Amino acid sequence: MRILILGGDGYLGWPTAMHLSALNHEVTVVDNYLRRRLSFEENVEALTPAPNLLERIRLWQEKRGLTIKPYIGDLSDWSFIANVFDETEPEVVIHYAEQPSAPYSMLNRAAASLTLNNNLNVTANVIYAVREFCPQAHIIKLGTMGEYGTPNIDIEEGWLDIKHKGRSDKLLFPRQAGSLYHTTKIMDTDLLWFYVRTWGLRVTDLMQGPVYGIFTEESRGHEELLPFFNYDELFGTVLNRFIAQAVAGYPLTVYGGGGQTRGYLNIQDTVNCVRLSLENPANLGELRIFNQFTETFTVNELAEKVKTVGKNLGLNVKVKRIKNPRKEKESHYYNPAHTGLLDLGLQPNYLTDKALEEMLSHVEKHKNNIHEHKIFRNTKWD
Ligand SMILES: NC(=O)c1ccc[n+]([C@@H]2O[C@H](COP(=O)([O-])OP(=O)(O)OC[C@H]3O[C@@H](n4cnc5c(N)ncnc54)[C@H](O)[C@@H]3O)[C@@H](O)[C@H]2O)c1
Repeated sequence: MRILILGGDGYLGWPTAMHLSALNHEVTVVDNYLRRRLSFEENVEALTPAPNLLERIRLWQEKRGLTIKPYIGDLSDWSFIANVFDETEPEVVIHYAEQPSAPYSMLNRAAASLTLNNNLNVTANVIYAVREFCPQAHIIKLGTMGEYGTPNIDIEEGWLDIKHKGRSDKLLFPRQAGSLYHTTKIMDTDLLWFYVRTWGLRVTDLMQGPVYGIFTEESRGHEELLPFFNYDELFGTVLNRFIAQAVAGYPLTVYGGGGQTRGYLNIQDTVNCVRLSLENPANLGELRIFNQFTETFTVNELAEKVKTVGKNLGLNVKVKRIKNPRKEKESHYYNPAHTGLLDLGLQPNYLTDKALEEMLSHVEKHKNNIHEHKIFRNTKWD
């Protein structure tokens, strides 16, 4: 298939590009290095430097003899994205290209504005480009479990059957985000749903939980093909941060009571979920939603796991509860459905001690690159 990966230089985009290329799909990646630029500007670069996208592609070609086609440019610029779609005529569009950090979106007005403009304009441009150049194409969009928030009822996969005053309907599950970034993801979903109803687009919206890990089948053993591993508060996801904190001897930063529960998944499962969605497309005129995670943990449980496995590796891991810089419930009901991707054949890679050991050992090798002052900067929601 001709597959266009938007945000193909990112933490998830690059492993996805390699995986689909390894399966002999015709893969094109697009990126404007926004993630790299923001990390640089905020002085929170990844644990190890990653070669730029063109160099990554060259290394991939050298190792596997496979070609990935790159475009470098800003997808919120219509003339650029129109040219990309016109030239590639994709059958599948995987849309990762957003500003993905909740704390970054809460930094200040400029960061909020960048997040809002970038995320919504890219999504709107993707919708228009699909309509104009490839109306049959399947859009696979990365949403987030954070769109639902933490309601006091079970979370369904996207849709809720509602009975109200004797009548019933199936409506999008109520959403209530916990950051501006998550709010942009809700707005993305609303945009997609509007144009699915209006123009009959074919869309899968993957409500993904926080991803952890670094290795996927294609990069294991090839350090230069690994994705970014951020350990800072802005761009590092919670488990990745705890791993680096454990290695650095920095007390694990549990926010508040630590009872915040979320659905997590290994980066290998992200790649597999996207592939399964692509192999089993949504119908034209359908907004299909899957909840993309494999198991739920409280923050305290994650910290305890890292502490236990770290101890076995000889690390002296301490856990510190700090005042929560975010506004969120620290103890709450959480029971989200997640059967859709399992029904498509997902075989989860769970968070085993072995998986934790592999991550800790990898980060340990690069311990000298961890700068303590970059770990926590206390970005407040106030
Ligand atoms: N990483 C997670 O834990 C997680 C969890 C849930 C959802 N998501 C979603 O998955 C997607 C990918 O996340 P990620 O962690 O790989 O983030 P990332 O920042 O590493 O990847 C996004 C990529 O898109 C690029 N990009 C952004 N705006 C662009 C633009 N205007 N033009 C061209 N390229 C642009 C960035 O430079 C970056 O390389 C995001 O939409 C994010 O919201 C991620």
